[in-house]
Amino acid sequence: MWLAVGRAAELERPGAFLTRDIAGASVVVVRGHHGRIQAFHNVCRHRGTRLCVTEAGTFPGSIQCPYHAWTYGLDGALLAAPQMDDAPGFDKGDYPLRTVACDRWDGHIFINLSDAPAPLLEQIHGLPARFAAWGMQDLRLVRRIQYDVATNWKLVVQNYSECLHCPVIHPLLNRMHHYLAAENVPSTETYCGGAMGFKDGVETLSTDGKRRRAVLPGLGSRERELVSYFAIYPNFLLTLHPDYMMTITIWPRSPGRTRLIAEWHFHPDEIAKPGFVFEDAIEFWDRTNREDWAISEQSYLGISSRGYQPGPYSAREQQLWEFDQFVLKAVKGHEDLT
Ligand code: FES
Ligand SMILES: [Fe+2]
Repeated sequence: MWLAVGRAAELERPGAFLTRDIAGASVVVVRGHHGRIQAFHNVCRHRGTRLCVTEAGTFPGSIQCPYHAWTYGLDGALLAAPQMDDAPGFDKGDYPLRTVACDRWDGHIFINLSDAPAPLLEQIHGLPARFAAWGMQDLRLVRRIQYDVATNWKLVVQNYSECLHCPVIHPLLNRMHHYLAAENVPSTETYCGGAMGFKDGVETLSTDGKRRRAVLPGLGSRERELVSYFAIYPNFLLTLHPDYMMTITIWPRSPGRTRLIAEWHFHPDEIAKPGFVFEDAIEFWDRTNREDWAISEQSYLGISSRGYQPGPYSAREQQLWEFDQFVLKAVKGHEDLT
């Protein structure tokens, strides 16, 4: 499937890159000389060395392997291979970096490790139109927090997809929304989600419910009064507020460990204002996120213990059941292949 990896705005200049490790692969996503963003396996074509060891940065116009200095263009073409001119039959054209499928939706970059992936639009169908008003590609990153959580990645998706726990786990969030007021859209095979309105007097999700930034310019009157929560399988949690966007990408490290990259994005007009503040939104979500990660760790501990037997869901947990079906189908499909 397509995995959300980051934002095009974070790769502004040619050579800017980010790397991500997923499912036994390391992938480097890089902005080329002509503005194109491409993804490659982070593996040298000579003897396989990892090319790039940092999570983000800027290549100086080319990508050089740290072992024997094979050098690649930002488009992946092999430009130089020391001492290989005499190797019989060697042609640099045969050894570009191996590409990974890469596409974009409204400023979000996605990669796909499949050799022949279905179009990204099939996975997110319906969402580009639904979220066009938020103008996501115009928004700019203001803060990133990385969390390493001792839980399974699927429990993070499940936790995000229900608010039954909100009164117990989230005293602050529960002051902002009525926890049973979610209006969910029908789930698809690739995402689930919905929107929640605010309690009286609340304008956005911040430490005190006050909104300290203008609403995003494309929003209509209804969209200004809700928060959309979408889990886009398998690794993207998209939360849209009247005045900012929070994205969380999910990176399983092992069955019991998950890295979560949370980012807060705001409109550039607001960022440019002298009195721009954002800490109220970050603090709100950092606290709420940590509450979720802590209970997800406890959930994982219980589920992985010998005494666990699955229990029933309530009607408020329908999206969890739907996510289960997604996982079961994916696992079954994999079994069929092997
Ligand atoms: S392994 Fe990369 S140049 Fe030798
Ligand atoms: Fe929660």
